[in-house]
Amino acid sequence: MLDVDFVRSQYDTFSGDYADWALFENAGGSAIPRQVLDPFRDFLAHYKVQPYAPYAPAQHAGEAMDAGYRVIAGLLGADEDEITIGPSTTLNTYVLAQAVRPLLRAGDEIIVTNQDHEANIGCWRRLEADGAVLLEWGIDPRTGELDVADLARLISPRTRLVCFTLCSNIVGSIHDVRTITALVRDAGALSVGDGVSFAPHRLLDVRDSGLDFYCFSTYKTFAPHAGVMWGRAESLAALPHQGHFFNRDLPHYRMNPTGPMHAEIGALGGLAAYFETLHAHHGGGQGTLREKANAMFELFSEHETQLAETLLAYLRSRDDVRIVGRDSAVDGARAATIAFTVDGHASRDVAAALAAHRIGCSSGHFYAFRCVEALGIDPADGVVRVSMVHYNTMAEVERLIDALERLR
Ligand SMILES: Cc1ncc(COP(=O)(O)O)c(C=O)c1O
Repeated sequence: MLDVDFVRSQYDTFSGDYADWALFENAGGSAIPRQVLDPFRDFLAHYKVQPYAPYAPAQHAGEAMDAGYRVIAGLLGADEDEITIGPSTTLNTYVLAQAVRPLLRAGDEIIVTNQDHEANIGCWRRLEADGAVLLEWGIDPRTGELDVADLARLISPRTRLVCFTLCSNIVGSIHDVRTITALVRDAGALSVGDGVSFAPHRLLDVRDSGLDFYCFSTYKTFAPHAGVMWGRAESLAALPHQGHFFNRDLPHYRMNPTGPMHAEIGALGGLAAYFETLHAHHGGGQGTLREKANAMFELFSEHETQLAETLLAYLRSRDDVRIVGRDSAVDGARAATIAFTVDGHASRDVAAALAAHRIGCSSGHFYAFRCVEALGIDPADGVVRVSMVHYNTMAEVERLIDALERLR
């Protein structure tokens, strides 16, 4: 079992100024453990110079950045050259769409969902202006779910790209990525997977996933603000370079036209120490970083499933609450990102009332505007969203339930 007290002891957040707050807005941004915070601070405090120049602090900075790329590649089961680290997922997908643009022929089809965050929709829809035909893989308006059979009907020999989320930041179901990518590959198309709401809960093996591109945001995976984009080497090679012409041979610049975020990338190396510390505490043993992190993610997901199920059981018991997505988490196919509405109450009022109980969560459409609208919910008010990760506790969930009960 996950020792949540030990996990929390790795974070200053839970003993600091807001220690008595229950933080349930992790799908918007997670806390940072000391193993990541310390190298971030050290970078900024001691060697914030132009990395890789031929003097000691610059070498130190370059080594920290190399470690960041190495650790991210190791966690994903990728080659370092396949990793781009840009300012955010939205910017990474935007740049990727620019790379795809000149390769499109009139009538080429791109499939997007209406379940995704706009980061994996808008940049693709813009390509309509270049002659691409955009098709929408739509959710069931009642359940919020995507049906793979609907995708199978949309895919054709004209499909060039399928862009979908591995887990919606509103609906929370974890998709069977390999079933989807198998369909896409059979059609000879490429796939772009948004893992922003997936990566805090599960560790993807990118090669095995069948995806061509996989994106997630490090500020939601226990690190500072940045966006990671993995591209399968063959798929990356087929796209025109988006960096300065003289950087053509630098793999990390291939899909990043701007300078990399030195300190943020440098801090990412600290994720190795975080997972290794947790792994050693939970039985330890030999293994690669990926194996150790994977073992921890298995414990995380067990714990998160218990938290999610406790909250869902309470929400299920209320006939004035609409739960978005699956109303049970027991089969492990639901992330602990739980959106709901309460009859007769604006979502913004519910979130504000919870704040009075020192419960931090939020409301709105969370940039999944199309998803919320398709669910028949007014995006202007949206849903209440409670999103939990491995450091949340059962006591916090009980406090939340108690607060929701008092608001009744
Ligand atoms: C599911 C999902 N995809 C994409 C994004 C966009 O990520 P970023 O803020 O790094 O651009 C978010 C951010 O909330 C998200 O939740």
